[in-house]
Amino acid sequence: MAGNYMNAITQGVYVIGSKMGEKKNLMTAAWLTQISSRPNQILVAVASSHYTAEILQKEPVFNISVLANGQEAAAIACGRGSGRTVDKTQHPFCGTDAEGLPFIKDAAAYLCCEVRAVFQAGDHTLFAAEVLSGENCGREPMRYDADKFF
Ligand SMILES: Cc1cc2nc3c(=O)[nH]c(=O)nc-3n(C[C@H](O)[C@H](O)[C@H](O)COP(=O)(O)O)c2cc1C
Repeated sequence: MAGNYMNAITQGVYVIGSKMGEKKNLMTAAWLTQISSRPNQILVAVASSHYTAEILQKEPVFNISVLANGQEAAAIACGRGSGRTVDKTQHPFCGTDAEGLPFIKDAAAYLCCEVRAVFQAGDHTLFAAEVLSGENCGREPMRYDADKFF
């Protein structure tokens, strides 16, 4: 068995919108999956060094933009640079929701989530979060292709 077998695991592409005080942040994540249906819960793996990992441990409510096909530019813009030093919410494709959380316009779907449990796994922090509300906009979700981004 050879080749990059980890790239065979299928994933979507998501952007996590978070805020801490006046500071808002956006981070691209592919390592996200559903883990419960009653209630709906998701699990997302965030590198422990990322600004988003710090924010989600302090401010548990965040949103997820499920990126649609064709939104690679948003995935790249939110997937490089730390919100500690770069304001990724200044891009024209970014909006702010009623909770004051940043999101990506014209995404396939949106989920509003609240962290319920936090685990450590190697170099990543796992956030199990309940989906409080959501909206499916009917666009085709993007499928993660590591070769396209890295
Ligand atoms: C397509 C794509 C998928 C990514 N998936 C993840 C992921 O699942 N978990 C993660 O910790 N970082 C992931 N990253 C990297 C982060 O988005 C990136 O390091 C980001 O700049 C961290 O932002 P922050 O420090 O402002 O939180 C991904 C990047 C891209 C482009």
